[in-house]
Amino acid sequence: MSQRTSFYKFISEEQREHPFASGKLTGLLLEVLSACKKIAHLTGNGELANEAMGSAGSENVQGETQKKLDILSNDLFIESTEWCGYLAGMASEEMDHCRQIPAVFPRGRYLITFDPLDGSSNIDINVSVGTIFSILELPEGVEDVKDEHFLQSGAKQVCAGYCLYGTSTMLVLTTGRGVNGFTLDPSTGDFLLTMPDIKIPVDTNEYSINQSYSRHWQPPMKRYIDECLQGADGPLGKDYNMRWVASMVADVHRLLCRGGIFMYPMDQRMEAKGVGGKLRLLYEANPMSFIVEQAGGMASTGYERIMDIEPTALHQRVPVVLGSSNEVERVVGYHRQA
Ligand code: AHG
Ligand code: MN
Ligand code: MN
Repeated sequence: MSQRTSFYKFISEEQREHPFASGKLTGLLLEVLSACKKIAHLTGNGELANEAMGSAGSENVQGETQKKLDILSNDLFIESTEWCGYLAGMASEEMDHCRQIPAVFPRGRYLITFDPLDGSSNIDINVSVGTIFSILELPEGVEDVKDEHFLQSGAKQVCAGYCLYGTSTMLVLTTGRGVNGFTLDPSTGDFLLTMPDIKIPVDTNEYSINQSYSRHWQPPMKRYIDECLQGADGPLGKDYNMRWVASMVADVHRLLCRGGIFMYPMDQRMEAKGVGGKLRLLYEANPMSFIVEQAGGMASTGYERIMDIEPTALHQRVPVVLGSSNEVERVVGYHRQA
């Protein structure tokens, strides 16, 4: 029998330390986990579930082509969580507007935002994907849930997490008391604590960025990557390594394991289109920033702390620089100087 702590035991013990905890967040998280297990099963079937593969022939509100698995994962997430009685509403990358919990189900006081399948361009090539989520409280006195109720800064998150569908399935979670990682035991269906109290090393020499866009970047980002490329011969005085999976979940997971800096900066093409970045604030940047900060790292747009941004739109996009604190601080310093 495994001696490891199960997610349920871990979260129940954490709840016991909070005399006023009602168990509602635990209840909600268990349903989120069950959604993630179903999505893990779905993505794990790969080409065997041929009918689930390929393009859905539709676009999301952001004009991105939806894959069938994006939509199936979104539906699974909704089905698995909406009945549980702890949610008032949900918002997702794959839905133009928020979904209020239908009246047939009991309604709670939590809101959830999620990216049902992050890195979905990697589905066709059997590379890691994941699910990202962020839990907020419904503002006091609100009964009819609308998009505007989700427009809360990242600092107000109650909980954030992701599930990585990689060589193993892992859940990484924070409720504001550090970050813990759990691995799915496929033989029992339990998530077991395998990475307690994750801390990101403050220094790193590993960066993660889609460098093919460098000609479109702003000067501070160009300067930083140029200096990384100069390695030990340049002003940073050390050689760098580069990794880019193109699934934010996998790239962030790597830096939680061994340090690193992940960047998806603003570029001229986005400026021309009037969008604030590529990654979405409410279900990508904020939850990942909460996790990274709770693990001792930093998360910034280059100009400001991501979790301080007051959102203005459900699908708002922001530039993202996050990871090992000394390295993020360096990039922020270059932006300040510019
Ligand atoms: P999604 O699949 O949910 O749309 O997110 C993809 C995101 C993120 O996971 C990744 O870091 C980035 O897009 C990759 O972008 P590029 O293809 O421009 O490198
Ligand atoms: Mn995504
Ligand atoms: Mn997605």
